Amino acid sequence: MQLTLQSPYDMHLHLRDTPMLEAVAKYTARYFSGALVMPNLNPPVDCLDLALAYKERILKACGDSTFTPLMSLYLTEKLDRAQLKMAKEAGIQFIKLYPKGATTGSESGVSAILAPKVLEVLEVAQDLGVILSIHGESNGFVMEREAEFHSIFAELATTFPRLKIIFEHLSDHRSIALVEKYDNLFATLTLHHITLSLDDVIGGALNPHCFCKPILKTPKDRDALLQVALSAHSKFSFGSDSAPHLQANKECAKGAAGIFSAPLLLPALAEIFDAHHRLENLESFVAHNAQRIYHLPKTDKIVRLTKKSFKVADSIGGDSIRSVVPLFAGRTFSWDYEC
Ligand code: DOR
Ligand code: ZN
Repeated sequence: MQLTLQSPYDMHLHLRDTPMLEAVAKYTARYFSGALVMPNLNPPVDCLDLALAYKERILKACGDSTFTPLMSLYLTEKLDRAQLKMAKEAGIQFIKLYPKGATTGSESGVSAILAPKVLEVLEVAQDLGVILSIHGESNGFVMEREAEFHSIFAELATTFPRLKIIFEHLSDHRSIALVEKYDNLFATLTLHHITLSLDDVIGGALNPHCFCKPILKTPKDRDALLQVALSAHSKFSFGSDSAPHLQANKECAKGAAGIFSAPLLLPALAEIFDAHHRLENLESFVAHNAQRIYHLPKTDKIVRLTKKSFKVADSIGGDSIRSVVPLFAGRTFSWDYEC
């Protein structure tokens, strides 16, 4: 049994920088037409010059001319009308808003989201047709953070009706109705939030490799999000939020948030869609929805998957980055890429 996917996109990806970048870029570049690259480096990618230089490093690390890194600018206090205009003219279509302190690499994020200076930048983004991606979490109780952020999405979606807003990595079933309510609000779904729950993090032995922000939630949340993905709901695109960290930085007292899923994304998705008899919707979920929502080209890249067993590596790495442990390390899936 075989499956072809034309021009898939990963609309939320962390590629990091050298040397991690060199180790992880190939997993995405080979199988996706493009990916929205997150700007939460240290220092953040918060101006045009940094974004263009980072794009060059990514292209070099990918070594695959059929992959397009879609660059985003980190929304800091520094970003102003002139900088955003220049970035848009240079082809940058995305800005990413991190609430300060909400997650990995959010130290330079925004502390008052509805402050006049931020709203002014969003108004410019709306005028320029720049898309706003948001890590939507408050700093409240960990299981309520996403829901507590809903009022900000509502406010922004109403104030800027022509601004396309992306609610990143949905984790809470209550967010689905919110996305459906506003015409200009869309969302991404990760592999981990549609397949795992908090039990996978702390239900047995502590598993730091399943620790991410927003935290995995209840089985009810997971199942509702999975249904949205399986139905290829037109407002939701696939965004892996693959976020590699060194094994040593995950398995320690201050374990970093982030799940590294890039090496297994499409085989794992094929297995899930197959198990639920929805294989016919997978291409819409990983390709058509992103093409339509973000106005991305359908390229000639065709990814072929076949029903044969595929074992996820226990870890990846080498001399320069030591070890990174992928999601589902050691597990065997029944779908694989066709070589
Ligand atoms: O778990 C996460 N890791 N969530 C994020 O929002 C950031 C990411 C990272 O950069 O490691
Ligand atoms: Zn992320």
